[in-house]
Amino acid sequence: MSLAERSGRERRLINAAALVERCRKCAIGSTRRRSVYGEGDSCAEVMVVGEGPGETEDLLGRPFVGRAGELLDRMLLAIDLPRESVYIANTVKCRPTFDDGQRLRNRAPDPSELANCRGYLDEQIEIVRPRILLALGAPAAKSFLGPTFSITRQRGQWYEGPLGIPLVATFHPAYLLRMTGGELTAVKRLVWDDLKAVRAKLYEVRANAPAAPVEQIDLFSSEAD
Ligand code: URA
Repeated sequence: MSLAERSGRERRLINAAALVERCRKCAIGSTRRRSVYGEGDSCAEVMVVGEGPGETEDLLGRPFVGRAGELLDRMLLAIDLPRESVYIANTVKCRPTFDDGQRLRNRAPDPSELANCRGYLDEQIEIVRPRILLALGAPAAKSFLGPTFSITRQRGQWYEGPLGIPLVATFHPAYLLRMTGGELTAVKRLVWDDLKAVRAKLYEVRANAPAAPVEQIDLFSSEAD
């Protein structure tokens, strides 16, 4: 990836994030503290797509930085993908909440919020053009694969995502954090299978990808010559 290409992508992501910060298409645009556009390597091979920001993400303006984020970081590292090497986004960029009378609580994004935010997500995918999309949890998977997608039956299978990019879904790390005992052991095993499938697919697509053009730089010339 040339430096010019990388900085062009970074500039486009920064501009898009600024637009999102000003967006008020949904009511949650006014209840959230900060928008959470996404972060990571603009040239990442893997893009992770979660559901939407939670309380910690809303406070910090960064995706997956709460407990689920810590687990996500460990999951990615287990397949040799440090957090900084991937791009992390969500289906919606503002924290979906409801007021329980005492405080704002998290909820799943509703269809109109998903639709309003979809263009931002599609643009991120178009800019980063990852080799693989990893959807975390049913809402993220459904946003790509339709409302009938079943995370329990269809996770771990490969689909064609936006721009023809291979897409796979697995359980959301927050779901793992809610489990205990034997159920947790069983679900952990499934998630590990899915992560290994991501790693294998990455090797496969890398092997089939044409070599990237190398930027021509003159290593041996100097002003003194
Ligand atoms: N859960 C999500 O789906 N996304 C985040 O950014 C944090 C928690």
